[in-house]
Amino acid sequence: MTNRIIDDRRVRAASRTVNSRGRTAEPVPRPRLWDELRGTFAMRRDQVGFLNQMIADYGDIVWIRVLGIRMAMLNHPDYFEHVLVRNHENYDKNTFLFRAIAPILRGGLIGNVGGEPWRHQRRTMQPSFHRPQVAGFAENMTDETSMMLRRWERQYGPSDVVNVSTELGQLAMRIVFRSLFGAKVGARGKVIEDMFFEANQIACAFFRFPLIPLTWPTPSHRRLAEIIRTMDGFVADIIAERVAGGEQHDDLLDAMIYAVDDVTGTGLSEEQLHREVLNLIIGGYETTSNSVSWLMYTVGRHPEVQERLHAEVDSVLGGRVPTFDDVFRLKYTRMIVDETLRLYTPAWQTMRSSIEEDVIGGYRIPPKSDLYLNIYALHRHPEFWPDPEVFDPDRFSPEEVAKRPRHAYIPFGSGPRVCIGKHFALTELTIILAMIAQAYRVVIPDGHREVRPEPLITLHPAGGVHVRMVRR
Ligand code: HEM
Repeated sequence: MTNRIIDDRRVRAASRTVNSRGRTAEPVPRPRLWDELRGTFAMRRDQVGFLNQMIADYGDIVWIRVLGIRMAMLNHPDYFEHVLVRNHENYDKNTFLFRAIAPILRGGLIGNVGGEPWRHQRRTMQPSFHRPQVAGFAENMTDETSMMLRRWERQYGPSDVVNVSTELGQLAMRIVFRSLFGAKVGARGKVIEDMFFEANQIACAFFRFPLIPLTWPTPSHRRLAEIIRTMDGFVADIIAERVAGGEQHDDLLDAMIYAVDDVTGTGLSEEQLHREVLNLIIGGYETTSNSVSWLMYTVGRHPEVQERLHAEVDSVLGGRVPTFDDVFRLKYTRMIVDETLRLYTPAWQTMRSSIEEDVIGGYRIPPKSDLYLNIYALHRHPEFWPDPEVFDPDRFSPEEVAKRPRHAYIPFGSGPRVCIGKHFALTELTIILAMIAQAYRVVIPDGHREVRPEPLITLHPAGGVHVRMVRR
């Protein structure tokens, strides 16, 4: 008996380790062999379903194996806060996900591993995204949305079924382009816009089957490299024209050309500038484009929510075009945006790698471990979100928000690497939703099927959102 107790203690002592900070910790649970093996195939067929099953079977932290790579999947607000905020210095982006897309992002802000090179870039670019700058971009958002709505009026009748995902994708692209390059970007801008759409499709196809690296010269990967070279050339031409012209421009490109890092006193090299422009287009297009599509879907499916939305935009705006200050008055509109970003969070997964050994929530994380941050599942954690699949903007009333841990909801990430475009995106989504609601009632056509989220780089509405736009 005594021996058994001693043996038990030995077994537990072997699996509990004391980490460098002197804390004892349990090993991260390992799944059964079958669950570990089926990961790669299940991820191809039904990635979200497989991950949800792993959480249901093993809890808020578990090792998973994806495409042969072992990762600890996290699904608790405290764990996210630990990795992204409290001990963020111990985690970088040297992970499979960011290595796979490195040929596109090329050391720009999104996929930069971390450390001093990332800090320099972030310090240099951050001032371009402060509140007064975003306020300036609000006019691009209202102008472009007004133009789209005028076109809709000519083009669509109340019985037409419109693929709003295509329409709103173009709108999101125009807003990013105009904010970066100004209104006078002209015909060249259109060519680059089309190329970017093509590049995005190649990148999405890669994510459906990420076994052939982007560096392998398949015909589509060669085309992607060609598009990136053309886009670099386009940015180089604009920079050369600006430097030669000497005029000031009120756009992001000018802000970044002249931006200086307060700490080092240096700016971005021309090569770095090319990369950052592409990173901003990538970061700012896919995510917002999908979000506005999902907004049409959630609003269309919930007429009672749409009634309250109409009442708010009518009383706050009284028929005029919204300004940046109105965004803070459109409180219910923003609650709809928040709840939509909870259920259909565009950046639905991210990854980190541990530098040194650490303990997360009592579990030992070995050095150089890949962590899989499952934001999609976090936003449905039943402990913090009762009836998680139900769409209910009232979850975002100030009283309800105060009841939840802050890291139960992180559509823009958190900590030092929080999305640089967060305020830009929230302003854009609120303005677009308010302006569409001023003019139209969104109606889901009879017999329209449920739209399934397709988990690619971002969470796409599979097949697009199709609605009828009925003039109010
Ligand atoms: C609904 C819209 C958006 C969502 C949901 C979103 C989400 C995110 C998330 C979750 C991250 C952090 C990823 C991580 O920690 O691994 C991030 C980073 C980033 N986002 Fe966004 N984003 C949105 C819009 C934008 C816009 C409009 C821009 C630019 C105009 C942008 C540019 C970036 C950049 C450059 C980063 C990297 C920041 C860094 O690491 O320092 N995003 N975004």
